[in-house]
Amino acid sequence: MTAQPEKIMNLPSDQDSTGRTLGDAELGYLREVIESGTLTTTKGRFGKALEGAFAEKFGVKHAFACASGSAAIHIAVAAVNPNPGDEIVTTSITDMGALTPLLYRGAIPVFAEVDTKTLNVTARSIENALSERTKAIIVTHLFGNPCEMDEIMELANDRGIPVIEDSAQTFLAKVGDDYAGTIGAIGCFSLQQGKHMTTGEGGMVVTNDDALARRMFLYINKAWGYGDKNPDHYFMALNYRLSELQAAVALGQLEKLESSVQNRIRTANVLTDMLNGTDGIETPKVAENASHVYWKYCLTVDDSKIQGGSVAMAGLLKEKNIFSAPRYIVKPAFMCQVFQEKNTLGDSQFPFNLAREGAADYRIENFPATVKALNDVLVLPWNEKYNDEHVKYIAQCVKTATESLLK
Ligand SMILES: Cc1ncc(COP(=O)(O)O)c(C=O)c1O
Repeated sequence: MTAQPEKIMNLPSDQDSTGRTLGDAELGYLREVIESGTLTTTKGRFGKALEGAFAEKFGVKHAFACASGSAAIHIAVAAVNPNPGDEIVTTSITDMGALTPLLYRGAIPVFAEVDTKTLNVTARSIENALSERTKAIIVTHLFGNPCEMDEIMELANDRGIPVIEDSAQTFLAKVGDDYAGTIGAIGCFSLQQGKHMTTGEGGMVVTNDDALARRMFLYINKAWGYGDKNPDHYFMALNYRLSELQAAVALGQLEKLESSVQNRIRTANVLTDMLNGTDGIETPKVAENASHVYWKYCLTVDDSKIQGGSVAMAGLLKEKNIFSAPRYIVKPAFMCQVFQEKNTLGDSQFPFNLAREGAADYRIENFPATVKALNDVLVLPWNEKYNDEHVKYIAQCVKTATESLLK
């Protein structure tokens, strides 16, 4: 039997300073912004500095700062510019901020199944969801673990369909020589409070494609042609800019990103070594040519062996101050009212009223792998400030919980 830890430990949390790296660099930049009196990125230096540094770090031609991860997805979809009723293949295990932008742009989300271990979409599941109306594919690298991009890009390139990578949860994860988020046509990142780097709310969009970059820039800026000879508002678009204050914080965070990510990987590997072989649970599955950057650390809980499955495990961990999320978002996103009741613009049911027959078929029985994946997953909080003591504590608590629930 594994020994119970002697005392309850408080783990660093990404919701406050215990688990965030905010400090002197951000304060220094913020002071510079305040003293300059220029808080808008249309005039200040920090928005541009952030975009330049982000592009350089990720090895992409264009990077734009924006208001949130949801805004990033909205910008990406707007850049691809679907016609109302066109389809975008995506995943239902994601944040709603990655789905409502599709509806705002008139696109029908068509959900691909997921791998039951990674909860990510796969080339095969995407292929099953494609139709003659597919305008784009969104792949979501969940929890810091990249999707199988080689296979997905091969499929998408064969069909000539652009891939948008939702990398909101995944910063600096390697896929071969590239970073997740820089492989498809457009990559989207979130800078929200709990992400690898944060400015409270915020986002980034990246691309290597000049034409897409132009549309992305315009969509962030009410489609006003800044710098053009005869600028105008060229098309329907919003103000999705970040402020200089946020950009200053994000720039400080970017400077620490590499070390934050490396800390997360190192400690996660320690946990994996400690938990491997524990009966009833499995440690994360990572593709051979990829690195996992552990936004969260997911266990797969086998409820044929563990009494009460992931929910019972979470209950025991909570008693030890470890606040995990059994079943992650609990139900597939398409089971939320916005999809089930088609609550969109007035009573129009737009864009579902334009959907190809069968495209908007959001019945849970069509998604057995998604249901299984959500049933089995136990999402442990993870953080760049975890040290070996924290990891040892988590490992002991997980092991004792597992042993006490083993059937
Ligand atoms: C996968 C994914 N996509 C998109 C978003 C939306 O990002 P934001 O909350 O910054 O709007 C999130 C947010 O958590 C996310 O996890």
